[in-house]
Amino acid sequence: MDIFKVKGQQKLLGDVTLHGAKNSALPILCASILVKGESVIHNCPDLSDVKTTLDILQTLGCKIKRDGDTVTIDATDVTDSKIDENVMRMMRSSILFLGSLISRVGCASIYLPGGCDIGTRPVDLHIKALKSLGATITENGSSITCCAGNLTGAKIILPFASVGATENIMIAAAISKGKTVIINPAREPEISDLAQFLNECGAKIYGAGESTIEIEGVEKLHPCEHRIIPDRILASTYMSACAITGGDIVINDVIPTHLAPVFPVFNEMGCRLYLSKGALRIVAPKRLRRVKMIKTMPYPAFPTDSQSMVVSALTVARGTSVVKENIFENRFRFVSELNRFGADVEVNDKLAVINGVKTLHGAKVNATDLRGGAALVVAALAAQGDSEISKISHIDRGYADLDINLNKLGADIKRIKNEEVTKEKTEN
Ligand code: UD1
Repeated sequence: MDIFKVKGQQKLLGDVTLHGAKNSALPILCASILVKGESVIHNCPDLSDVKTTLDILQTLGCKIKRDGDTVTIDATDVTDSKIDENVMRMMRSSILFLGSLISRVGCASIYLPGGCDIGTRPVDLHIKALKSLGATITENGSSITCCAGNLTGAKIILPFASVGATENIMIAAAISKGKTVIINPAREPEISDLAQFLNECGAKIYGAGESTIEIEGVEKLHPCEHRIIPDRILASTYMSACAITGGDIVINDVIPTHLAPVFPVFNEMGCRLYLSKGALRIVAPKRLRRVKMIKTMPYPAFPTDSQSMVVSALTVARGTSVVKENIFENRFRFVSELNRFGADVEVNDKLAVINGVKTLHGAKVNATDLRGGAALVVAALAAQGDSEISKISHIDRGYADLDINLNKLGADIKRIKNEEVTKEKTEN
């Protein structure tokens, strides 16, 4: 596997543009099989999770073209409804094929999904919701077969505002008989982006981003062109990287409302933020200040996906910060690696107590998951000396060219390809 070698303590300066949001691209690509024709998706990031999703679409019978950041999916012929177990285990969002395949071909046969090891991540809410829409579901150990003649609208109350379950319901109910109402849906910007894509294809989805979503089922969808929203989690990654290095950067193509939950935290750290026409300038102080308490919660509160990178930035803040993780129980797994840089972070169940230290030193660490891996890159940028981050395939799942983009801002990161790593090891 590739590794990153990082020479730390380079201040980030300059400007950078966000790529499209991973968490929008994945559900939109899954939903594209509802359309008999070509869906043209712009600003589609070139990430390994996107590649895996495109591979799945191809095995189901879709024709795929990529030209720069534009992907065209021709789902005129969907010939299969089974997804390979290995592919399924690579990525949790593959559960969204359940909704799209039963809608398109009547049946779906999938294995329980994988993804980052950040908690148990059950799919009970997805299954219960699809049953409410008329699907019959047979669970057989690690595989699920889900079938439905015609999906019929229903009132679905989500006990927790699950992002994936909300998306699966929207995808499945878009082509259905009657009206579906989702009470307590997730309100993340990626939910609104999926609703917009489906509506551009002729669906009738109202209230995405609000506390109730109504879906009037239609008979069919038509092809459309759609531009994916910029990645707000990538923005918070750059913000953390800028904050920890005492930098001054401009992030282009931001949607300020999507970042509103993270702004107060960076302000409390002492960063100055300036917004102008879709660009965010962040100017970090010489030394960051502690943040009293951050609690991760569903949108519009502080996102769990930004938590790890912000924890990294806080390791060098003056004073003690506290972070409470309310969404995924294993989201602090990266902390033991972070402490190898000389950070002083104690984890007790859902709480992380971060005692700020003056400087971090270089370390050899392993990425434990996607955002935890990005957090280690953030720490390495500020560390005195050289660092090595292994298992970066986790990072590649959600970031396109993170090393190249950070280098343009003045970082010093080298990607050492797997073959070279093996060669170095045998030579030593
Ligand atoms: C999505 C995002 C992920 C983000 C998360 C929360 C994608 C591809 N991934 O993941 O990056 O961290 O939202 O913002 O968009 N739960 C159940 N039963 C279910 C479904 C969920 O108990 O059937 C629980 C989960 O275990 C977790 C919580 O609900 O504790 C949140 O999960 P959910 O909102 O569904 O996240 P994902 O859609 O998996």
